Amino acid sequence: MAPSSAPGSRVVTSPFFDRFPRFYETSQTFAYPSRLNLRHEAIFGENRDVFEGRRVLDIASHDGRWSFAALQAGAASVVGIEGRPELVDAANETFAHYNVSPERYRFIADDVFHALAQEPWEFDVVLCLGFLYHTLRYNELMARIRRCNPTYLIIDTEVAGDGRALVRLRVEDVMPQRNAVRDEFSYRDSVLSGKPSVKGLETIVGAYGFRLERFSDWAGLTRDNPENADEFQNYLRGSRVTVRCRAIS
Ligand SMILES: C[S@@+](CC[C@H](N)C(=O)[O-])C[C@H]1O[C@@H](n2cnc3c(N)ncnc32)[C@H](O)[C@@H]1O
Repeated sequence: MAPSSAPGSRVVTSPFFDRFPRFYETSQTFAYPSRLNLRHEAIFGENRDVFEGRRVLDIASHDGRWSFAALQAGAASVVGIEGRPELVDAANETFAHYNVSPERYRFIADDVFHALAQEPWEFDVVLCLGFLYHTLRYNELMARIRRCNPTYLIIDTEVAGDGRALVRLRVEDVMPQRNAVRDEFSYRDSVLSGKPSVKGLETIVGAYGFRLERFSDWAGLTRDNPENADEFQNYLRGSRVTVRCRAIS
């Protein structure tokens, strides 16, 4: 994709996580500073207008990095759902360390599908970051997100390189910390999951009344911040995207 910004306008001068460096240590999953800070720019820098005073859901909240960033971006509250209890413990410890008011956040250690079915949740913004390629349960996920009645859904995901509306199947191991957690559909140590193409993504969110509103300017971000490019190769190649979706119906 071509940059949508002028050269030099996307230089990151004050990396977000340099101010909160505990997040460099609480995950085994690509917690490289350059990658995390550029992702922060793509997810929050480009969506500043949507967080102020909003209630946020963070799907697969991991060590709480994006829940924390949402509160720093002005969100009123955040609920993070994460299937690995040790990561929820890490998130709670980090939030206490940085003195975040406990009324503003809640982490739930559970399978996201199970947790979302337990309450009549209401959110203004849903973050679905690094999760869509760890499941094949898209209709279930989207139906549950839809019931939360959000205005915005922000997705960060790997995508299959294909111009057609499709989902590429894969089987993944549940052992690595970054992967799918074991659920009622896993078999032995594996989960059948998928990777939608961009058109596939458009079809999936469109079926639940969302449209792809804006892709984050990864071409501009990587052009202006080329150091440690090996840390964000997939964004550079276009095999991973960050996109904001808006509810239209
Ligand atoms: C690639 S990491 C993404 C972490 C973070 N959201 C990010 O974008 O940096 C995927 C996360 O999803 C969690 N996860 C996978 N399947 C899940 C499920 N069914 N319910 C809850 N969490 C799940 C994993 O434990 C892991 O923390």
